[in-house]
Amino acid sequence: MRDTEITYLGHATFTIQSSAGKRILIDPWVQGNPAVPEHLKRLAPLDYVLITHGHYDHIGDAVEIAAAHPRAVFVCNFETSVWLNAKGVPESSVIGMNKGGTVDLDGIKVTMVHADHSCGILDEGKIVYGGDPCGYVVAFENGFTLYHAGDTNVFSDMALIHELYRPEAAFLPIGGHYTMGPREAAKACEFLQAPTVIAMHHHTFPILTGSPEELERLAAGRWRILGPRPGDRL
Ligand code: NI
Ligand code: MN
Repeated sequence: MRDTEITYLGHATFTIQSSAGKRILIDPWVQGNPAVPEHLKRLAPLDYVLITHGHYDHIGDAVEIAAAHPRAVFVCNFETSVWLNAKGVPESSVIGMNKGGTVDLDGIKVTMVHADHSCGILDEGKIVYGGDPCGYVVAFENGFTLYHAGDTNVFSDMALIHELYRPEAAFLPIGGHYTMGPREAAKACEFLQAPTVIAMHHHTFPILTGSPEELERLAAGRWRILGPRPGDRL
């Protein structure tokens, strides 16, 4: 998309190579992620890792990936940043922030936005408070802007994300049960007005039954709905 190379690893996890060659991973769940094709489990060196929330299907491999990519800088909410530090990820490798804030990563502007979900971190059989879940708006060096919703239900303030940041592509969970399904995602499309919508977070587990085809039917041609398969490049 606009000189930005996006690869869908599976579930909610993507790698992105920016037009200037920076490599970003969104939601570090790779080795344990059953959706990721084997040949994509070995990650090329990363510059940045964005974490939407503390559920294991988003953060599950964060500590291991931090160890394997010592140059990578992690972006997450404040509470999760402290948890990562406690797990041995150096403070210099983690940027803790909160909703409404923007960090400039070598010219890539990353803004943390709201998500309507929960955020407990599974830690040795117990749930640790992980702050609030979030989504990210990422504005690349060349102006291309995407919105990764993380896990969320639809919320009407998605209209603010459109008003403030005008993302051209929206990555939305559609599987249902733990997040919105196609019905709610179609409403999210109305609020977001992004010309291209990428469906994610479906069919990784049998309970996530919402399908891109169903969202496409509900969108009725108003938005371009993409339903990439794990390993697909956008
Ligand atoms: Ni979740
Ligand atoms: Mn999830």
